[in-house]
Amino acid sequence: MEARYPSESRTILTDLVLPGETNPLNNLFGGELLARMDRAAGISAGRHSRRIVVTASVNHVAFNRAIPLGSVVTVEAKVSRAFTSSMEVIIDVWVEDRQSGDKTKANEAIYTFVAVNETGNPVAVPPIKPETDLDKQRFDAALRRKQLSLVLAGKMKPNDATELKALFV
Ligand SMILES: CC(C)(COP(=O)(O)OP(=O)(O)OC[C@H]1O[C@@H](n2cnc3c(N)ncnc32)[C@H](O)[C@@H]1OP(=O)(O)O)[C@@H](O)C(=O)NCCC(=O)NCCS
Repeated sequence: MEARYPSESRTILTDLVLPGETNPLNNLFGGELLARMDRAAGISAGRHSRRIVVTASVNHVAFNRAIPLGSVVTVEAKVSRAFTSSMEVIIDVWVEDRQSGDKTKANEAIYTFVAVNETGNPVAVPPIKPETDLDKQRFDAALRRKQLSLVLAGKMKPNDATELKALFV
């Protein structure tokens, strides 16, 4: 299968924060942001694999900054690495200043998607060719994150997590 660039899976969702999507402090409700990130990441994984994809795991989420009611929020997702049937997708969340139009990074997350066939069984996806320095950094660290996710899910023995172990020796 021919490799694809991370930029080919780049997906951008821009939307407002409306009253029904906030917590009692009038900031964006965390579950709403998780759903927006899941949607963008799913489209991104689908663009890379051109298959049906399902969310296998949410590996990391950092809600670093509250996002107030009325904000314009941009969720940007890109596949950082593809394995056999699974893909790591990194999501960056930006908030736009109404007056200057400048975007500030508010949050980030890492999701794992798996490409499946019509009966829900995993199928192979194309590999990734990282382009930029950031793409390369994210690609290099992705195997470590996959092993951590599998160990935490009880799907890999800690002893087999070679990339993780390498951090401590
Ligand atoms: C995701 C799913 C297809 C994986 O099925 P499975 O029987 O575990 O299949 P496998 O063990 O062959 O794993 C498939 C791939 O997922 C990866 N994977 C599975 N669980 C993972 C986890 N917790 N973290 C990271 N990767 C994971 C495996 O490493 C494998 O990757 P690879 O093929 O690239 O090496 C299956 O668990 C599923 O359908 N889950 C429900 C998905 C869903 O409905 N999501 C929406 C949320 S409600």
